[in-house]
Parts: sequence; structure tokens; C-alpha cells
Amino acid sequence: MARSCSIAVLPGDGIGPEVMAEALKVLDAVEKKFDVTFARTHANVGGAGIDNEGKALPDTTVDICRASDAILFGSVGGPKWEFLPPDEQPERAALLPLRSIFGLYANLRPAIVFSSLTRASSLKEEVVSGGFDILVVRELTGGIYFSQPKGIEGEGRGRVGFDTLRYSVPEIERIAHVAFRAARERSGKLCSIDKANVLSSSVLWRETVTAVGKDYPEVELTHMYVDNAAMQLVRRPKQFDVLLCENMFGDILSDEAAMLTGSMGMLASASLNSSKFGLFEPAGGSAPDIAGKGVANPIAQILSAAMMLKYSLGQEQAAAAIEAAVAAILDKKIMTRDIATPGVKPVSTAAMGDAIVSEILAN
Ligand code: IPM
Ligand code: MG
Repeated sequence: MARSCSIAVLPGDGIGPEVMAEALKVLDAVEKKFDVTFARTHANVGGAGIDNEGKALPDTTVDICRASDAILFGSVGGPKWEFLPPDEQPERAALLPLRSIFGLYANLRPAIVFSSLTRASSLKEEVVSGGFDILVVRELTGGIYFSQPKGIEGEGRGRVGFDTLRYSVPEIERIAHVAFRAARERSGKLCSIDKANVLSSSVLWRETVTAVGKDYPEVELTHMYVDNAAMQLVRRPKQFDVLLCENMFGDILSDEAAMLTGSMGMLASASLNSSKFGLFEPAGGSAPDIAGKGVANPIAQILSAAMMLKYSLGQEQAAAAIEAAVAAILDKKIMTRDIATPGVKPVSTAAMGDAIVSEILAN
């Protein structure tokens, strides 16, 4: 009998529902080709949660996620909800609690320049020629995002806003292990990012990562200050393979690495806890300016579904089939507007999804 997996489907706002529809088509194709079925339960999140259930992360949604093997997430936020106080806005009030409720401390953000897309990159062709493949491993449940105390105190111009950046040794160790294991499976190179020339948390970060590295003699570990890393990423991205970052540095550098690939619409991500449960989402956001127009690139959502198959559902072969299909259709110059190279007539969101489905079924 086919293995049955349960998925919480949280399309969210903006382009989320459109690109999610394409990822679900791809899962249908996987069911046809491989011995697996996906029981999908849809739930509200973000602005859709606020509009339909009064909260960006409704309790029913959390329950559905708890009852599932993985969460497939679209994107949240948009101008409609921008008037809300900051801590009720869809992004903060949905994503941050999901990360902390499920302990999703390990965020994997691959930035891959497919060789057929080197012309879509914002970098000079000689810098990206042949493509590149960087994996940002970002700590996601600690650091300045979550450490206490934080807040705004005082009155009027006397007000002071503050945040705290704390990392414990076990928090650093567990994310370092994730990064070393990833590096061991890839090129064997790991660069840990910090600001150890200024921040105490970074001094402990560097010391702890170096100590964990003793368990991985086959991985070559280097350290780099975050400002230098931001510069090196645009200067010579191919020097990097796996980057290990604390929460905020990873937030910033993963957007930078993403954009080097040419489009935020290509970037998948996985946020994992220690028991293989995860949330899988495109890194590009809800793109309200193009929502509903049928032009959004569904590849990031589809590759996020592939990461879900690989990391949470034990379906590595199906994940590889999706990745191969994406590379193949790009070689055939099937491209949405955001990545269309000169002379290529862009296809719609749905046409891109259909092309990937046909490619999976044909192989
Ligand atoms: C991301 C986003 C989030 C973050 C926001 C929306 C809370 O930028 O996933 O990178 O800062 O982590
Ligand atoms: Mg971000």
C-alpha cells in the first residue's frame, strides 16, 4: 500500500494561493509516479487568518499543523493589513509564533543559480558563469528576534527602543551540527558568519562553532565577519558553499544570496525542528503588486514542496524528480516574467506548473 503523508496546506495571502495551486498539482503528479499519497488539510494563515478567523495564526490552524507530518506554507502579508499594530501584522503574528511553537530552529535557504539562468542574475555574467549553489543555514528561533527583554519604554521623545541578542551554547551547537552535516554532504566547505570583533554573542558563537567542528574533521571551517560576507557575496559568490548564520545575519544574507540568483521567485526554504517536522515556504514573500495576475513564478513554492518531500516525508526520489524537472524546463526556456531571458516569451504561473508536471510524468 502507498505510504500516506499528511500535509497542512497554508496558502496565505498575495501570490500565496496562486503558487500553492501549482505546488499541489505537482504533488498530484508525484502521487501518480511514486508510491505515496498526500492527505492535505487547508488552513488560514496571515491576512487570510485575520479576515476569516480574527487572528493571523488561528488556533484551528495550529491544531491542523500539529496533526500533520509537515506544513506547506505560501506567503503572508499585504497592504490591506499594514494599518495593524506591528505585532498583529500577518508576517510577525503568523511566522514568528509558528517558528517558536514548533521549535523550527534550523532554516535552510538554498540559493541556486541554474546555468540556464545566469543571464537573469543581477551580477556580471563572468561572476556567475556556470551557475552556483549556496546554502544559507540560518538559526531561526533565537538571537535578537526572540531574546528578552525587548520593548519600547518611556514617553514621547524620551522613549527608548531595545532588543536583546542572546545565544546559549546548546542553541549554537545544534544549528552548527546542522550546518556541518550539510557541508559534509556537499563540497565540505563551511563558512560561519559572525561579528566577533564587536558582539559578545558572536565571540561565543565563533568559539562554539569551532569546538563543534572537531567532530567534523572532513569539513573545512572558516569564519567571516558579516559585513565582509555581504561584500564577498556580490564580489565572488562561488567561493561559498554552506554559510552558517545566526538569526538576523541569516535573514539579511539569505535575501542577498537569493537575489544573486536573479529572482526571489526561485528560492525555496525549509524550517526544521529536531524531529524532522518542518515548515516549507518560498522565501520571496507575498508580492501583492503582482497577486491575482497569473504572472508569479511558482518555482520557489514547488521547490519548497520538494524540500518537504526530502526533509520531512522521506521521499528523496520524488524530491529529486521535481528538482530535475525544474532544471529541465528552464533548459527548455520555459520561464515566467521574472526570470525570462532576452527573447523568451514569458509563460503564466499555471503554464509553468503544467510544464513541470508534464516533465515529471514524462520521465
Ligand atoms: C524571513 C522574513 C521574516 C524574518 C519576517 C517576515 C518576520 O523576512 O523569513 O526571512 O525576518 O524572518
Ligand atoms: Mg527575511
